Amino acid sequence: MDSFEINKIVAAVLMVALLIIGIGKLSNIIFHVEKPTTPGYSVDIVETTKVSSSTKTNEVEKIDIAALMAMGDVAIGEKVFKKCAACHSINKGGKNNIGPALYNVVGRKVGIVEDYKYSKALASYNKEWTLEELNGYLVKPAKWIKGTKMAFAGLRKEKDRASVIKYLNQNSDNPLTLTLP
Ligand code: HEC
Repeated sequence: MDSFEINKIVAAVLMVALLIIGIGKLSNIIFHVEKPTTPGYSVDIVETTKVSSSTKTNEVEKIDIAALMAMGDVAIGEKVFKKCAACHSINKGGKNNIGPALYNVVGRKVGIVEDYKYSKALASYNKEWTLEELNGYLVKPAKWIKGTKMAFAGLRKEKDRASVIKYLNQNSDNPLTLTLP
C-alpha cells in the first residue's frame, strides 16, 4: 500500500464523517421541531372517593346502606368492638378515653361529647353520625375525615362495619329501628 492509497482511505473516512455530521445538521434545519413548553401529556386527575371496599371501581357510588346493614349482626359487632374498646367506652355513663365515649353515638352530632378534646377536623365537621357517615368513617377514618386523630386503620370488611354499627346503635337510649329486608 503506498502513501497515495492511504491518503485516499483517510480522505474517504473523513468524507463519510463529514457527511454524517452534515446530514445531522441539515436534518435539524429541515425538520425543525418546536419543543413544547410543558413536556409530556397533561393528565387530568379526577378526585374520587371510594365508599365501598368490595368494589374495584374508583367511581363515587352511592352505597346501599340498607343492604350493607342487613349484613350486620350485633353479636359479631360486640366482638368487633373489642378493637375499638382500647380507646372507646360504649356503656351508658362510660367515660371518655383516648377516644370519646360512644354510648348514644348513632344519630349524634359529630364531635360534641363534653369534656372531650376533639381534633379540629371532627369539631368542625358539622354533620351527624348517620349510618352512612359511620360506615364511611369506619372504612378508613383518616380518609373520610382528613385530620381526624382517631389512629385506627379501619374495618375493611363490610360485615364487620355493619355489625359494629349495629352494636353501636344498640348501645343507645333511642336505638334506630333498622328494618330488615
Ligand atoms: C387507637 C384508638 C382508637 C381506636 C382503636 C378507635 N378509635 Fe374511634 N376515636 C379515637 C379518637 C382519638 C377519636 C377522636 C377523633 C378526633 O377528634 O379526630 C375517635 C372518634 C370516634 C368517633 C367519633 C365520635 C364523636 O363523638 O364524634 C366514632 C364514631 C368512633 N371513634 C368509632 C370507633 C369505632 C367503631 C372503632 C372500632 C371499630 C374505633 N372508633 C376505634 C380513637 C380510636
